[in-house]
Amino acid sequence: MAKLSLPFASPALPVPTEGVAVVTGASSGIGAATAAALAQLKSGNFHVIGTTRNPANVVDPIPGVEYLALDLEDPTSIATFAEEVLQRGTPSVLVNNAGESQSGPLEELPREALERLFQINVIGHIELTQRLLPTMRAAGRGRIVMVGSMLGSFPLAFRSSYVASKAAIKGFAFSSRRELRPFGIDISVMEPGSINTGLSARRSKYVDPQGPYGDEFQTMLSKLDRNEATGISAERVAEEILKAITDERPRPLYAAGSKAQLVFPLARVLPSEALHGLINRKHGL
Ligand SMILES: NC(=O)c1ccc[n+]([C@@H]2O[C@H](COP(=O)([O-])OP(=O)(O)OC[C@H]3O[C@@H](n4cnc5c(N)ncnc54)[C@H](OP(=O)(O)O)[C@@H]3O)[C@@H](O)[C@H]2O)c1
Repeated sequence: MAKLSLPFASPALPVPTEGVAVVTGASSGIGAATAAALAQLKSGNFHVIGTTRNPANVVDPIPGVEYLALDLEDPTSIATFAEEVLQRGTPSVLVNNAGESQSGPLEELPREALERLFQINVIGHIELTQRLLPTMRAAGRGRIVMVGSMLGSFPLAFRSSYVASKAAIKGFAFSSRRELRPFGIDISVMEPGSINTGLSARRSKYVDPQGPYGDEFQTMLSKLDRNEATGISAERVAEEILKAITDERPRPLYAAGSKAQLVFPLARVLPSEALHGLINRKHGL
């Protein structure tokens, strides 16, 4: 009788230790912490490139990180940036971290806001990945980390566009993982929970405060901002991202913050309705 082999264990893949390591959105928060961790990694000798829309405005440049311009809203900027990376060497690490945090009731989200969000959080990163992949593939190694959000696994009211964008990059990563494996490349997802990066102040909001959703939106937002202000540090998230880069057998999904170690196992046993209710209740709804 033919032996059934279950392909559950992920295969060992080459661990990158040199080459170009790109971190998008490295001017603050999780991206800055990840670029710093890569520059200081004892087991690696990477040329670390961090991106920002305006390198001249980086307040505390991290030693060992080269800052290059990238605006994910602009396809020309993505093409130019990819060329600049390839001129510097073979990319071996790509952390697709930059992102917009958007909120608003579904009914009131403007089309332009949705298009911008998906261009930055999804399409821009996919295009950048496509432009770097052929060189990584030829080198036979590489790690790509998509920085999603735990909201991509645990949806919250008034965050539908953001949740959808983070679920979308997870879909791209989980599906293409098997495509890349024969070439020694892994693509995984890091889902941060609430992280204290000051992101709350930069969140885009689309809501009529006097409209039918105004009060509940404000209730959710106050809780969300409080959770972020008391969240774990960006450095802790960077540690988890580094695991996706240095693990011999990288996992499809990493997570940190918002009691991730408890919440993910719970999600396997609770009915979705109950789980969604819990998340909304945690935000005052
Ligand atoms: N903080 C949290 O609680 C949390 C939770 C879950 C997931 N996340 C995700 O983690 C990632 C980093 O979040 P963070 O809290 O570290 O945010 P952050 O401190 O606000 O940093 C966002 C980064 O994205 C860059 N960026 C923004 N718009 C861009 C654009 N159009 N093109 C290129 N770069 C752009 C910014 O660079 P410049 O402004 O310098 O261009 C900045 O470096 C995001 O994808 C976010 O969705 C965060």
